[in-house]
Amino acid sequence: MTADLLAGLLPVREELAPGAVVLRGHALAAAPALLAAVAAVAAAAPFRRMVTPGGFAMSVAMTNCGTAGWVTDRRGYRYEAADPASGRPWPAMPAVFRELAGEAALAAGYPGFAPDACLVNRYEPGARLTPHQDRDERDLGHPIVSVSLGLPAIFQFGGPERRGRLRRIPLAHGDVVVWGGPSRLAFHGVLPLAADSHPATGTARINLTFRRAL
Ligand code: SIN
Ligand code: FE2
Repeated sequence: MTADLLAGLLPVREELAPGAVVLRGHALAAAPALLAAVAAVAAAAPFRRMVTPGGFAMSVAMTNCGTAGWVTDRRGYRYEAADPASGRPWPAMPAVFRELAGEAALAAGYPGFAPDACLVNRYEPGARLTPHQDRDERDLGHPIVSVSLGLPAIFQFGGPERRGRLRRIPLAHGDVVVWGGPSRLAFHGVLPLAADSHPATGTARINLTFRRAL
């Protein structure tokens, strides 16, 4: 049985922690349109492996759309209105992105979410994201909405302290995780992607994280 089918047998809405939920399959119907929009965004602002302040190239390739885009380089983590690679504004946020994010936030108990930034992550086999907090946004009253597409991955989710225990949550194509409120500063990460192939994305996993940055 494929991971996508297995995911269909799990409860649709899983409470991870206060303020944090997994909405299984919530983006399945929109997935083809979301992936077409990802291709359009990446044509204008190509995926690239950014460098951490410590000088290491991240294993995850990233791009952005929206009025602000998350970047990292030797100067640190921040949001920028323009793509540093081209000097041009990031591509506009596609309507299908905005609608899906607002609607998933609502389903998770966060009405009125209007993201101005979407970080698009592309994981190839072996790529991982070490546990971190999303804390570069101006107003932490807004939630984070995270959409998984393509290859499955193991998501790690903990509490507000780095030392805390991390739960492991398998995420499949179409799953959406929303965290905010008491969980807004939860540490989270992604374990190294296993090599496989998915009909929608080939050998990659695509993740969209929607934020209200400014
Ligand atoms: C992130 O923390 O920005 C991405 C999470 C994920 O890829 O599921
Ligand atoms: Fe994150």
